[in-house]
Amino acid sequence: MPNFAAADLVELFRQELELCKVTEGEKLVILAEPSSRSEYVEAAFAAGLALKANVIQAVLPGGSPVPLPSSRTGSGAGLTSLDNNPLALSLLQGADMVLDLTNEGFIHTESLGKILQAQTRMLFVADPPEVLARNLPKPEDKARVQAGAALLRAGKELHVTSAHGTDLVADLTEAHPGFQCGIADDPGRWDHWPSTMVLGWPKTSSGQIVIAPGDILLPFKTYVRDAVTLTIEDGYIREVTGAGADVRMLEMFFEDADDEEARFLSHMGWGLMKNADWFSMALYDRESLMGMDARGLAGNFLFSTGPHPFMNRHTYNHLDIPMRGCTVAVDGRKVVDNGVLLELDL
Ligand SMILES: [Fe+2]
Repeated sequence: MPNFAAADLVELFRQELELCKVTEGEKLVILAEPSSRSEYVEAAFAAGLALKANVIQAVLPGGSPVPLPSSRTGSGAGLTSLDNNPLALSLLQGADMVLDLTNEGFIHTESLGKILQAQTRMLFVADPPEVLARNLPKPEDKARVQAGAALLRAGKELHVTSAHGTDLVADLTEAHPGFQCGIADDPGRWDHWPSTMVLGWPKTSSGQIVIAPGDILLPFKTYVRDAVTLTIEDGYIREVTGAGADVRMLEMFFEDADDEEARFLSHMGWGLMKNADWFSMALYDRESLMGMDARGLAGNFLFSTGPHPFMNRHTYNHLDIPMRGCTVAVDGRKVVDNGVLLELDL
């Protein structure tokens, strides 16, 4: 039986590259590492050719200095073989667009800033084919998340509550609102397919977050079984309390991290991805999955811990924790009501 896996994905990648406004003659670099999904590399290359782009495929050595399985976690150092490779960096900086098919992406790395400053746009892709197809962005998704980011920009306070006891107030002053929509179509823009979310980087917050049964801990890719209460003071996790195994799991994570920066809150926001499947993580091999279904699910509240580029914290100890059933409000205006996304007027 011939391997049709790549051929089967060409149309999907063509649609995505079209959303990213890849046009005839544009310089498109498809970036991979030796263990990247080869069918993605092949399909993306063919899709780029179909759009008459000027396509180059580049493979950099794999490996990571982080002594943890760092593949598809969303928290790692990215492909560090780029760090001391000025030739590769100049290739990426010279591209109009980079399609990043490495396993970990460059989200919290210094290299990413250098690439984007050169006005290259970049799209990271790591989830399995069915997850990509189900969550293929729609052109209007960009306006939906931009409306949310504008609300954060104009707001003073983000208030998150839940029936389980979450009650957190985050200060939106200089919180650098942002968004992901799965489309990288502007020069210097980084995005992630799939993703549809609004987020900000509050410098301070206080109250408590109750992670409830059924919520998800990333990058562990586990569903919480027993409620965990985090007591937050000035953006810092002062206490982790509760009765079940997940409390001990989080305590051990912070103990092992041995890193003061790990206990600070990082980005937070809400998901707008309507076709996301909360249960995909239970059905796929963990290594194959990034977990963007969980991060982007419409009506979730996603908060995270560890790095905060605007507070000069650069730790790789990063937890993303998407939660269901929360109410999220900006200056009293609800954007998520008891886990249900409320669409903003466009
Ligand atoms: Fe994150």
